[in-house]
Amino acid sequence: MLYKAAGCAARRPYPFINTYVGRKLSLNIAPDGLFPNPNSPVKVLTDRFADMGFTIRELMALIGAHSTGKQCFQSSASVNASFDSTVDVWDVRFYSETQSASAAPGTFRLNSDVNFSHNATNQQDYNRYGSPLLRRHEKMSLLGIDKNILTDCTELLLLSINLKNLAVSH
Ligand code: HEM
Repeated sequence: MLYKAAGCAARRPYPFINTYVGRKLSLNIAPDGLFPNPNSPVKVLTDRFADMGFTIRELMALIGAHSTGKQCFQSSASVNASFDSTVDVWDVRFYSETQSASAAPGTFRLNSDVNFSHNATNQQDYNRYGSPLLRRHEKMSLLGIDKNILTDCTELLLLSINLKNLAVSH
């Protein structure tokens, strides 16, 4: 999550995600089967995030993180393929490219993302991506932890870096 927050900071003028450190290591082994599976139906995935306290709208905002993601383990035929055509930039292109009829050249689409982009239950929220993004990332980074026992290290993150030359124009 620190990586994500730092990445977001680097993509200013996007605002910072508040970033907290000091989480205690869990002594328990996580139960099996709780990690979201990209081949699960939309309802299973939205229910899983609801269990963690996230609304469908929040989940639709959070999966925008796939804008900067690549896959290694879903398809051995396209290892390192990104989820959108501008993987170096945390933008909203992921949403439209995932929703379009065919994948952008060189990209790979997770079944779950494609299903979200066409599912009637979350369609409205999918299409409103973006606005609650940062608060939702802070919420996910703190999941189950009281932020008052952590140290806010947001100010240590990188200041603006000009990444304009990395952006791909279309
Ligand atoms: C329905 C929920 C989700 C599912 C099913 C899902 C599934 C996946 C899968 C299968 C990958 C590719 C792993 C690989 O093959 O290497 C991936 C990558 C990634 N996911 Fe998700 N994800 C979900 C939600 C999220 C959320 C909420 C975030 C963050 C807020 C997130 C952030 C990422 C990132 C950053 C990557 C790229 C990792 C990399 O490039 O190495 N995902 N996700």
